[in-house]
Amino acid sequence: MKALVLAGGTGTRLRPITHTSAKQLVPVANKPVLFYGLEAIAESGITEVGVVVGDTADEIRGAVGDGSRFGIEVTYISQGAPLGLAHAVLIARDFLGDDDFVMYLGDNFIVGGITDPVADFQSGRPDASILLTRMPDPRSFGVAELDSGGQVVSLTEKPEFPKSDLALVGVYLFTPAIHDAVRAITPSQRGELEITHAVQWLIDQRRDVRSTTISGYWKDTGNVTDMLEVNRSVLEGIEPGVEGTVDDSTEIIGRVRIEKGPRISSSRIVGPAIIGASTVVRDSYIGPFTSISENSRIEDSEIEYSIVLRDSALVGARRVDASLIGRGVRVLPAPRNSFAHRLVLGDHSEVQIPS
Ligand code: DAU
Repeated sequence: MKALVLAGGTGTRLRPITHTSAKQLVPVANKPVLFYGLEAIAESGITEVGVVVGDTADEIRGAVGDGSRFGIEVTYISQGAPLGLAHAVLIARDFLGDDDFVMYLGDNFIVGGITDPVADFQSGRPDASILLTRMPDPRSFGVAELDSGGQVVSLTEKPEFPKSDLALVGVYLFTPAIHDAVRAITPSQRGELEITHAVQWLIDQRRDVRSTTISGYWKDTGNVTDMLEVNRSVLEGIEPGVEGTVDDSTEIIGRVRIEKGPRISSSRIVGPAIIGASTVVRDSYIGPFTSISENSRIEDSEIEYSIVLRDSALVGARRVDASLIGRGVRVLPAPRNSFAHRLVLGDHSEVQIPS
């Protein structure tokens, strides 16, 4: 069995964070979301992995490499334009050959991995199997309708009026039967070859399409609240440990992971929290559920329930809460005594200021 990981597309949803970078590399507890997927694939016993890349190919290749650090062997498949998930299957035909495969969307996060669904698929070997999760408002997902026996009856992509609360999760298990399906369908209204339509095609051909409903799912829907929440839940399970330098006047409480090289002085860090490599923390408070990425600087600041991406500085900031701060951002004290906020914000940034 092989895996096909989709890491192409254009990142416009999690703006402004993905204006300039691949959405699959957005970090959760200081690790790109894509890496959790690759680890889950490796854990399920699959080693041959095709990674579909688009505009952000260089960045993805730079991060993933040949896959050996995950115990997998990666073949990159270039997709000229993001023409849809079924299009990705179409262009990966040479790589996939006649093997069964799991298709994994690189921006999806599945708590608990995919080992069980992969094992179930291999033992039952239906023509296709999809994963579903219950969602109060599934309108920005594919939505499944099941009959009373749990058999998949229909799938609709991003319906205005969903027929159920069962959203399609970005993990699909396929036999080579899917290749006929992706060749048979035509582009949707949004101009994409939809995998939802390909699976519906299989259902219409009376092929055996099964489903498993899971809990513990997240996707970058552009919703910062959700991103902070998934970061929170992953931080709750991190291995604590200190690899950096921590001075005597610093207090570290609870589950805190300090990666290689940070210098922490005169500060208080209350876990769960993670501090990335080479970051400097001085005279600051870092509260629970906070991830500070590498090479950042937190000085004379308080921050809690937040994510700071790499190369950023937070100096004299009291107090930052429930925030997502991008790469290379600088939050600095005003040079003069002034009540004015001086802001240089990228497109689609959002700032809340105390009034
Ligand atoms: O995440 C689950 C949802 O994924 C499902 O509920 C939907 O049924 C399914 O269509 C898909 O929805 P999205 O439209 O939100 O998918 P998105 O465009 O975000 O693409 C998912 C991943 O696949 C993402 O990592 C980018 C990558 N991708 C996407 C397209 C369209 C590619 O590599 N190539 C592509 O052509």
